Order: sequence, then structure tokens, then C-alpha cells
Amino acid sequence: MPDNLIAPHGGELVNLLVDDARAEELKAPGRATAEWGLTSRQLNDIELVLNGSFSPLRGFMNQADYATVQSDMRLADGTLWPIPITLDVDEETARAIDSGGELELRDPEGMLIAVLHVEDLWQPDLEAEAAAVYGTTDPDHPGVSYLLRHSHPFYVGGSLEGVQLPVHYDFRALRSSPADLRAEFFRAGWRRVVAFQTRNPMHRAHQEITLRAAKEVEANLLIHPVVGVTKPGDIDHYTRVRCYQAIRDHYPQYTAKLALLPLAMRMAGPREAVWHAIIRKNYGCTHFIVGRDHAGPGADASGQPYYGPYDAQELLRQHQDEIGVEMVPFSMMVYVPEDDTYQPVDEVSEDTRTLSISGTELRDRLADGREIPDWFSYPDVVSELRKTHRPRDQQGFTVFMTGLSGSGKSTIANALMVRLLEMGGRPVTLLDGDLVRKNLSSELGFSKEHRDINIRRIGYVASEITKNGGIAICAPIAPYDHTRKQVRETISPRGGFNLVHVATPLEVCEARDRKGLYAKARQGIIKEFTGISDPYEEPADADITIDTTRMRPSEAAQQIILHLEAEGYIGADQNP
Ligand code: PPS
Repeated sequence: MPDNLIAPHGGELVNLLVDDARAEELKAPGRATAEWGLTSRQLNDIELVLNGSFSPLRGFMNQADYATVQSDMRLADGTLWPIPITLDVDEETARAIDSGGELELRDPEGMLIAVLHVEDLWQPDLEAEAAAVYGTTDPDHPGVSYLLRHSHPFYVGGSLEGVQLPVHYDFRALRSSPADLRAEFFRAGWRRVVAFQTRNPMHRAHQEITLRAAKEVEANLLIHPVVGVTKPGDIDHYTRVRCYQAIRDHYPQYTAKLALLPLAMRMAGPREAVWHAIIRKNYGCTHFIVGRDHAGPGADASGQPYYGPYDAQELLRQHQDEIGVEMVPFSMMVYVPEDDTYQPVDEVSEDTRTLSISGTELRDRLADGREIPDWFSYPDVVSELRKTHRPRDQQGFTVFMTGLSGSGKSTIANALMVRLLEMGGRPVTLLDGDLVRKNLSSELGFSKEHRDINIRRIGYVASEITKNGGIAICAPIAPYDHTRKQVRETISPRGGFNLVHVATPLEVCEARDRKGLYAKARQGIIKEFTGISDPYEEPADADITIDTTRMRPSEAAQQIILHLEAEGYIGADQNP
């Protein structure tokens, strides 16, 4: 349908979905050279290529576009485009499509999403890509981390024919394609539209920015949050969307609209801001809000920010005329209690008292069940956040014990379990080393590989228990630091993780030799025995260290309970 809105990037709104007859042809068995299961990021990317959000792209980038996007922020034909949109595949798939042909792209359920007509297959220099796109090769940067740790080693470029868009069952009424939104804008008579991008819950400061922006440029407002893959550790999109729905009711009814964007963010700061503006242009927006540190990943390990706070504004300013979308820049907003308003920080005099609450402070307040003031956020938004961010004494947690065989892990774990059951309130599950080996890992031995699989299984079960508000007590040997850290990383975002090192020395464990295993290990009857013929890496990151030579199991359990109480996982009133 023709509209009188801003033209899409490249002049034409791309729609790569084929008609039913062609879809049937593409689905015919045996016609493709190979097939590939799309990853979460690729599913986001392909949806936005197929529905025209990434116009003028008509597929995954070939090698020529990939090269010029890195070097000049342009496709090979000169069109401005700052971020590589590439399809990474493994070696086996690369071998199968060696000479070209067609690649079937499927979702995790096996549904055919699209067919790629292969033009190029190459092995990219991922470090060079990181340096060009992110300005750093630091693997702590989430975009770089994806490239260096998760990307498959081969890229396949070519045009796409879409069979169906990836299916979403959540918030369907809010998921509008560029064509849908353009039609809605046209029907509503919206010609000037300012878009707001976010991957966080929205509070009063955000509302103030968006309303000011809309007024400033006399435009309607599109609240356009990202619900694809965002920065690891972000608040899940279900919670966020309920927050957006809550705050939507505090906007003028006929000049503001909420829609969701299934974008996989790269956290590329300046380049990402240019990309976001191009995408919003495809959705029919004429203006785009860019605040402080837009799409920035924060700071590196030494505390140095990856990008300057206004670098993104600077880069978009250079390209806004070419894109045709006008940037509406904002600096950080602060609350001025004296007159109950929000003001840009650089417009407030130095002697004016101002208030703000950082993201970390907000999380702490939610975790401690403390008040979140009305000047900061609307009560209905806070109540949505509280539903998924329970205070710590209502969250699940894991106590993960590690130590040599015979160190006393199981005895302490049992004592701890009984104490926690006595307190009540949360279900408790014991994942003891021996029990797990019997019920969950019976086919595994004691090689490094098998021990890692065993610990990852325990970590997975514990993380599910923790996520659902229960208590998991794990008591395997878990001899490898790297694997323990992986488990910590899996569980921490879902609740508490407490590493307990049962540090009873080897001589004591061996002298006890309750199961006679040490004797057998010394005789070489049991191979790869931890501490004797296999390594145990002492944890440097234990939250509690216990040596059972000097402590009875009940005392050890009490020490853990005190730690849990200090961390807030057990309320003072729960401790009998
Ligand atoms: S691991 O390394 O975390 O996967 O080990 P885990 O699952 O906790 O299993 C340890 C129990 O298995 C018995 N066992 C051995 N331990 C260490 N090394 C070797 N080679 C071995 N063979 C059998 C031993 O009884 C351990 O039980 P605990 O309760 O720790 O004494």
C-alpha cells in the first residue's frame, strides 16, 4: 500500500515472503543442498530481513558487502549500513554447501523459515570484524564475545526467499512489522513520528525524555523497545513488556503508540545508533531519540567505558541528513525535588539538589524489598518489576559445595538440608555427588570431559530449581575451576549462588578413607582419583570455606546458614 510517510532506506520496503505456491515448491523434500538450524540471534536477524526492517538488505551479506560495511559503514553499492548481518555456520554445513546451491534455514522446531541462495562462503577474520565494528577486541564486550566465543567459523552470504516469519506466541498484538506500522501511521494520519528505543524497563525519566522529544519536534511518539536478544543480564522481555504496558497508560492516548522490535542488539554504541535510526526509518519514523551512551555495553574490566557517553549522538549527527531521520539528542535526566520535575543534567545549576537512582541501586532495592519512590517510577510499573524481582528472602538459591572425596560434603549437605527444611518456606533439593551419579549421570566416568558433563548437568538442574524459587544443595567434588565458574554464571542471574569450599586437607580425607577408595587409588585399582591421580583446583572464589578437621557438621551447616542470612536469602525471622 503506498503511504505518504518517509521512504524506506534504499527507497523500497523489502518483503521477502513468497506466495503459497512458491512456498510449497521451496518445502519440497530434497531440493536444498543443506539445512541449518537458526540460532536465537539469527532468528531475530532473519525476521527483520524478511519483513523489511533491514531494507534494503535482501538476504545475509555476501563477502563484498561484509568487507565495505566494516571498512566504510556502507554496502558495496554505497548505501549507508553500519552493522554486518551475516549467517555463521559450522564446518559440516560449510562443507555441504561448498559449491553453492540452496541452504534451508529452520527454526528450533524444524519449521522451514527461508531458503538462502548461496552466493559466497568464506571464513571471516572475526577479530578484525570486532575491531572494525566495535572498536575493540576485548572479549568482555558482549558483541565481541559473541564473535569470538559463540560465532560459528564460516559465513554464508546470499539472497533469501521467505517461507514464513519466525513464530511468536507472546504479545502478538504488539508485534508490528514495518508494513503494519506504516499502515497504522497512515490510517491515524501520523506523518511525523519520533521513535524511542530501549532494552530496559521505562521509568519517569524515560517518560519525560519521550514526552519532551515529541513536544520539541511536534511529532507523534513510537515507543519501540527491543525484545530480541539484548545484553546478557538484562531484565527478561516478559517483565519489561508488562512494564511498558503499564507506563503506556500514562501517555496521551492518541499521540503515543507501543510496538515491539525483535532485534538482536550488538551493543555497538555509535554504529548501533546509526543502525537503529535506519531501522526506525523503515518503520516510517522521521525522528529518533538518542540519549546518553546509546546501545553502549558499559565499562570494561578496568572500569573504562567502551564508548564516550555522547559518541553515538556524534556519529548519528554526521549521518542523519543522508538517512533522512532527524536525531533528537538527550543528555541524562535528573530529578529536581524542589520543583518536582525532571531536567537534563546539563541544564541544572550546580547548587540545585538533584536525585537519581541507578540501575544497580534499583536492583538492590528490589532485592532487599525496599521502597522505590514515586518520583522515580509509577507504582504499577514497580509492581510489575516486583513480581519477577522478589526480595532475596523469597528468591531461590543454590548452595554449591566442592571438595575432595571424603571431605565431608555429603554430611554437611544433609545437615544443611534438614536445617532449611526445619525453617520451611521453600522446597529443598539435595543433589549429592553419589546420588547424581546414580540417577542423572550413571553412564559417566571420571575423565575431565565426563566430570565436566556431570557438573554441568548438576548446574542445569540447580539453576531450574533456583529459577523457580527453590533451594538446591549440590555436593559433588567439582574439581575444575572453569566448570564451577560456568555453573555460577548460569545460576547467578536466576537467584543466589553460594560456593562452599569444603577444604578438608587430603591427608585427613585419606586417613578417614570411609569408603576405602583412597587405598584403592594408591594401589592403582581406581584410576584418575581426585587428589591422588587426578587434579583438584582449589577455588579462589569460594563464598565460604570450611575445614571439617576443626568443625563438626552441625557447626559447618550453621556457618552456611549465617552466610545465607547475611546475604539476605534467609530472613532473620526464619532462623529458629
Ligand atoms: S565429579 O568430579 O564432581 O564429577 O565427582 P562426583 O560426581 O562428585 O563423584 C565423586 C564420587 O565418586 C566416587 N569416585 C571417585 N571420586 C573421585 N575420583 C574418582 N576416580 C572416583 N571414582 C569413584 C567417590 O565416592 C566420590 O564420592 P564422594 O562423596 O565425593 O566421596
